[in-house]
Parts: sequence; C-alpha cells; structure tokens
Amino acid sequence: MSVVRIGLLGLGTIGVGVARILLENRAILERRLGKGVRLVRACDLDITIDRGLDLKDVELTTDVDAVIKADDIDVIVELIGGYEPARSFVATAIENGKHVVTANKALIARHGEELFAQAAGKDAAIGFEAAVGGGIPCLKALREGLAANNIQSVYGILNGTCNYILTKMEHEGLPFDEVLKQAQKLGYAEADPTFDVEGVDTAHKLSILAAMAFGSEIRFDEVHTEGISRITPDDIESARELGYRIKLLGIAKAHAEHVEMRVHPTMVPHAAQLAQVSDSYNAVQISGDFVEHTMYFGRGAGEKPTASAVVADVLDIARVMPDSVASLAPPMAFSQASRKPLATLPMADVECEYYLRLMVQDQPGVLASVTEILAHHRISLEALIQKERHQTKAVPIVMLTHTTLEGNLQAAVSRIMRLGSVEGEPLILRIERFGA
Ligand code: HSE
Repeated sequence: MSVVRIGLLGLGTIGVGVARILLENRAILERRLGKGVRLVRACDLDITIDRGLDLKDVELTTDVDAVIKADDIDVIVELIGGYEPARSFVATAIENGKHVVTANKALIARHGEELFAQAAGKDAAIGFEAAVGGGIPCLKALREGLAANNIQSVYGILNGTCNYILTKMEHEGLPFDEVLKQAQKLGYAEADPTFDVEGVDTAHKLSILAAMAFGSEIRFDEVHTEGISRITPDDIESARELGYRIKLLGIAKAHAEHVEMRVHPTMVPHAAQLAQVSDSYNAVQISGDFVEHTMYFGRGAGEKPTASAVVADVLDIARVMPDSVASLAPPMAFSQASRKPLATLPMADVECEYYLRLMVQDQPGVLASVTEILAHHRISLEALIQKERHQTKAVPIVMLTHTTLEGNLQAAVSRIMRLGSVEGEPLILRIERFGA
C-alpha cells in the first residue's frame, strides 16, 4: 500500500486536533483513501509540552526546514496562523515540491493569489477548506456542488467568537469582556482577539468566499469592515423589541460590474434562519440562479471541527497523488484564466434599510429637526421610538428607515450630528431581511 507522508507546522489548538484525527482515525482514513496516511513529523517552537496525545511514532522538531524542505514529506499542514512567517514557510514548501493544507484565512485572504500562482507552476495543491466556516464544507459546496450556478449572494455568520459573544450577551446578560475571555478559553478566538471582535477575521473569510462565488480576485483590503465592540446590551434589547437579533454578518453580492462586500453587525429578523444560529456555530447561506437558496451550518471554530476540515483536504490531495493535481477542482472554483478583477462596489452605492440610534437632548423640536434632515435626503422612516430617560439628560431615539442608499444615510447622519441637541456617536446598523 502506498503511504502519504504528512508534516505538521504548529502544535497549537488546531494542530493537536489534526494530529489526533491522523492518529485516532487512521483506520477510517485509510479505508476511505485506499492508501496509508502517516503523520511523520511535527514542528513547533516548544516540543516539551504534553499535548495529551500519544506522539511516540511522530518525530517532533523545532527545525521548520526539517518539514518544509524534507524529502520524506509529501503534504505540509500549516497551522501557525497569521501572515508571517506562515507565508514564507508555505512558499518554501511549495518551492520544495510539497502540497499544502492550511486553516489560515489571513494567509489566503492576503497572499492567496500569489501562492496559487506559485503552486500552479509547481503542480502543487493548496487546500484551505478550514480557513472558512471551521468544520463546514462550504468552500467545497461553492467549488463543486454549486458549480452549475451563477452565484448571486453569500451571507455568512463566519466568526465563532463574535457569535458566541452576541449569544451570551443576549441570553445571559453577561458583559462583553467576560464572554470574550470564555471564548478564548474554548480555543475559538484568534491570537489577537481584536481580529475577531473588529470583524477582520470575518472579512478575511468573506473576501475568499466572494472571489470563489463570483470568479473574481481576492480583495480583502476592499471589504467594508465593522466589528461588534460598540454593541451594547441596550442595542440587543432594542433589536429584540423590534423583532430582530444582532448578528455579525459577512455579506457578498454580485452586481453586473461590481462585487459588494461588507462585514458589520446586522439586524436579522427573528424568523430568518441565520437569526437561529447561536453560540460558536457558523452558517453560510449561498444563493444561485438555478439552485435558489442553500444553507450550510456547523461548528465554525475550535480544535475538532477545524481539524476535520483540514484532514478532508489532506485526503483530497492524497487521493490524486502521485498524479498531477490538475484533476482537482480549481482552488478558487474557476479556471485561473477565466477569473476577473471585478471592482468592489463603493459603500455609498450600497442599498439597505437602517436602524439608527441617536442620543438627543429631551427638548421641544428635536425630533422635528432630525426628521426634516432625513426627509431632505429622501429617507423615509418605517418606525421611530423614543426611549425613557435613564441617568443622563440625553435620551435615546431609535429609528428604522425604508431602503435607501448608504451615501444618503451617511450624508443625513453627518448633518444630524451637527445639530446642537444631538450628543455622542450615533449607532448605525444595517438590516437584512432574507425575504422574512
Ligand atoms: N477566531 C475564529 C473564530 C476561529 O472565532 O471563528 C475560526 O476561524
């Protein structure tokens, strides 16, 4: 029986999960593959820690070259995370004739295009299913199962940490910082958790999904990105009263000449399926012209689910070895020559309904001045709520608008903010209905 030899970079949360599957599920992997699968070597900065695994048949090393340049390794699994040194290690591994599997969304979002080009020149494969949606095979769905369609839109809850935080804030009334600590303990959060809570991790993932959905290039820097750190328990309560839940969504839509890409906390009607996705679960809704709406749901973070996606990629590559990887579906779901550099839709041209929360002084004529400005910018209101006064002199006003251009809304809000009676920063949340 031929044997596929694997080298692992990084024995952190996901690395331990991958080693565990390769050791504990070896029999089922080999039955599925009809070949042997061996974890030959694993590299980490610290190889003295007890990982809770029987690693006696695995060579542990602190020398990265012993994996990425070794003659006895066929596939390297990169689980270091971040841009560097992950990029250099992966590039060196490809140069040395290795196939690569990674869970690193930051790496693919920022350097994917150059790495795919390099890999194509060396007949090497790059698998990155685990980079988006943790254990959910949503990239495989886009690349293979939905290949018959023009994809119209992708909506995703793509960050387990944020979904966990928003769920606990809503259900248990816990403060943001405490819930973030829990998510870190559970192994969901990035090394730098601001990547999670400020929406950067979701933007990494969305930029990959959008390019795979629409046959465009990965443009991570052009994703409009807002996080959840300004959401308060009061906002969550106001949303609930109005029939919505707040979710951090990644949204990508196809336009004739543009791709729309945005990440922000979003008001989602309770009846929508995405509103039901709680804790660290992720979900991706992909719509195509023939298939209509499809939904993919599962654990979006953590050791075992992410490792599950990594090992599935290893099997796909191992299956075609030692033949050319040209028989695999193209990594970005379109033949390289047909991918187009589509421009990103400017945020001012995005159309949405909005939730707007202002803090205003409780005095005559304030509401009239606010609504006059909205009317001047042709923004029509669906609902307006003035909340009770709490400790401060200012009172919150919550407004829901009908569909309008983001450019109009932003212009109106900057004029409203210049009114002497308006205090502090406004909170603007976009609403998505999914036909609910
Ligand atoms: N920090 C990420 C999350 C891990 O919370 O979803 C999975 O990519």
